[in-house]
Formats: sequence, structure tokens, C-alpha cells
Amino acid sequence: MKFFMDTAEIDEIRPLVETGLVDGVTTNPSLIMQSGRDIFEVTKEICDLVDGPVSAEVAATDYETMVREAAALYDIADNVCLKVPLTKDGLKTCKYFTDQKKMVNVTLCFSATQALLAAKAGATFISPFVGRLDDIAHDGMSLIQDIRIIYDNYDFNTQILVASTRHNMHILDSALIGADVVTLPPKVLHQLFKHPLTDTGLAAFLEDWQKTGQSIAD
Ligand code: E4P
Repeated sequence: MKFFMDTAEIDEIRPLVETGLVDGVTTNPSLIMQSGRDIFEVTKEICDLVDGPVSAEVAATDYETMVREAAALYDIADNVCLKVPLTKDGLKTCKYFTDQKKMVNVTLCFSATQALLAAKAGATFISPFVGRLDDIAHDGMSLIQDIRIIYDNYDFNTQILVASTRHNMHILDSALIGADVVTLPPKVLHQLFKHPLTDTGLAAFLEDWQKTGQSIAD
């Protein structure tokens, strides 16, 4: 399962890239707003930092303007993945660019039938928002399960990119279901490293090591 970072904050992305765990980045208009940066400048910096796909989202809602915006966003770097909303115009834009072998991430997916449409439009990634479904007392992860079944039934190549993740259980369940990608806010990735038994175990090992008086590297 690939890990994408769900942020446009360069200072948060860089140290995580250095761990070797980051396979891509997703941004959206809200994340660009929170970064306070120009979309072209910050997207270029992220693309230079990360080898994998970097999703950059259109702001238009009609097909003609989406296509124009897409051309400008794809021009930023070879690893830009266009992000379009799951609307008729968004899927028309998706089909137009996937026919040209460009990467497209279809976002704001909240139902399995929407995910079926995105796959038929040739989407590279479908982004179902699990956290926002949980927020309104729906089961976000059951949507991922349904999409997995549908995509496997018909051998669709569209990758399931679990979005709007909020905590460890979203990541664990995504891996158990067999999602292709999760996009995580940096704080969720930091949480994945943590276990109290790791901390206490390490402290005990270090204490015992001191008692041996030995050194490994010196
Ligand atoms: C990523 O592609 C999505 O835009 C993002 O995960 C949405 O997350 P949120 O629901 O926490 O805003």
C-alpha cells in the first residue's frame, strides 16, 4: 500500500520524504489556502521533492475551463496528477486526459456507484473520503470495501486512494481491505510509528546496554 502525504506544507513533507516512506502527495484548494502559498510555486516545490504523483486540483466546475486549468497544472512538472471533482464535467475532463495517458485523481467520492463511474472514465486514482463519511455517522470504511469488490469484479485498473483519513484505524482497515493508496495528514503518519511498548522496551535496552560498558561504532 502506497503512502501519500495529504498536505501542501513543504516543511512537513521534507522530513517525511527523508524516511523513504512517502510515495506521493495530495493537495486540494483548502490545503493550498492553509499553506498561504501560490499554487504553482508550492506544487513545483513538492514535485521536486517527491518522486511519485503530486495531485493538484482544478478550481473550475465546467469542462472547458477545467481543461484549460489542467494544461497549466500539468505544465508544472511530469509528476503532476490532475485532480478533478466527481461531477459530469469532472469525469469528462478525466476521460479526456486519461485517453492521453495523463494521471487523473477523481476526488470527492462518497458512493460506490460514483467510484464505478470514475473507473469507467479511466481514472488513475479514485479518492473516497472516509473521514467525512464517518463525520455524518456513515461507515467510511465500508465504502472502501464495496469499491474494492467492484473494481476486482471487473479488473478495473483505477487505484483506490483512501482520503480524508484521520487516525490509525483508517490506515489499518485500508491495508486489511487491500486499498492501493492512503493519503495521510503528516500527524497521522507520525502516530503510526508510536507504541508505548516500543518506548519502554527501548528504554530498558538502553539502560542494560549502558551497564555492559561496550560501544559498537567507536
Ligand atoms: C485528499 O485528497 C483530500 O482532499 C483530503 O484527504 C480531504 O481530507 P479532509 O476531509 O480531512 O479535508
